[in-house]
Amino acid sequence: MTLFSHRQYISITVNIHQDNENAMPHTSIPADTLPPISVHAVPDRSVLARDVFGIASDMVVPAFSVQTDHVPDIDPTYLFDYETTLAILAGFIHNRRVMVQGLHGTGKSSHIEQIAARLNWPCVRINLDSHISRIDLIGKDAIVLQDGRQITEFQEGLLPWCLQRPCALVFDEYDAGRPDVMFVIQRILEVEGRLTLLDQNRIVTPHPWFRLFATANTIGLGDTTGLYHGTQQINQGQLDRWNIVTSLNYLPAQQEMRIVCSRLGIPQEDTQSQEKIRDMVALANLTRSGFMAGDISTVMSPRSVISWAENDKIFNDVAFAFRVTFLNKCDDSERPLIAEYYQRCFNANPFPEQASTTTL
Ligand SMILES: Nc1ncnc2c1ncn2[C@@H]1O[C@H](COP(=O)(O)OP(=O)(O)OP(=O)(O)O)[C@@H](O)[C@H]1O
Ligand SMILES: [Mg+2]
Repeated sequence: MTLFSHRQYISITVNIHQDNENAMPHTSIPADTLPPISVHAVPDRSVLARDVFGIASDMVVPAFSVQTDHVPDIDPTYLFDYETTLAILAGFIHNRRVMVQGLHGTGKSSHIEQIAARLNWPCVRINLDSHISRIDLIGKDAIVLQDGRQITEFQEGLLPWCLQRPCALVFDEYDAGRPDVMFVIQRILEVEGRLTLLDQNRIVTPHPWFRLFATANTIGLGDTTGLYHGTQQINQGQLDRWNIVTSLNYLPAQQEMRIVCSRLGIPQEDTQSQEKIRDMVALANLTRSGFMAGDISTVMSPRSVISWAENDKIFNDVAFAFRVTFLNKCDDSERPLIAEYYQRCFNANPFPEQASTTTL
């Protein structure tokens, strides 16, 4: 597999439609008035989804030609899921508010980040944990030094800051946000939604290329699985304002295997390693069906499978890597069943030393 270096990849994506009739007008703004986040106030390129994300779609997507500090780094091994990518791209192209919901570690946050990376679209992620307050988002009066004197000045929070810039704002763990904080977000969920800064007597109008995304484990109706302690119900009036809600859960085994192999850089010809990854994904799927059936209370996410494969590479011992990646996180009473799943996939005991002790 050919891996492009970061810079090479950008220049490739960027040049695809340089002369395309769909290309956005090149409207850079004078250097002295540049917002720090982006060199161009509007996207100055357009790219084809098929070429850049490898999905079967003819979507033409606006993009920026210059990578700035706020653009995430490209993971050249990333594989894009068709539906999730389509939904997120609709968000970027048509200014739709897009929420990606799904079980943990399935690639929700990284899909948004990796799409932004390939579009050179500045992207800010905010973890909406229960400590985020209204003041963090909106801003507050702060004491600053000016000409050697202390003065009080309003410092914008991340919300008005992002809102005024060509930037993709991602609310991660959207269902963990405190209800009072969530109402601050409600207004900007509407595309024309202006944000009123009451303390400032100021109304902030969204930048035409500001984009808003969210990721969540639950769909806002509370945690029905018992996996997501700390999540809240989402106000239905607010959920209603998200234009697109897409689900990203466990993918078919073949696709998950391709993702893990791509992350680990395992080539197609390395059949031995490919088979090992296939067994790992098979075991992950056993934990998932065991969880659905109520047999165990911990599931192995795609993130854990990647982590297991990486740990295996470090320790060169698949059973030890399994214990430290997953088994040790499971309840004691469930370990024998999980060890049995391992036995079924790898035809070995994940506790070889324990097995020998028992025999003795
Ligand atoms: N399609 C993919 N291709 C390559 N790597 C992937 C893919 N999907 C997920 N990953 C990797 O799996 C890990 C978990 O992804 P991510 O953090 O996006 O999951 P998440 O769904 O946001 O999880 P959570 O619900 O816990 O926030 C990351 O290291 C990510 O790079
Ligand atoms: Mg996430």
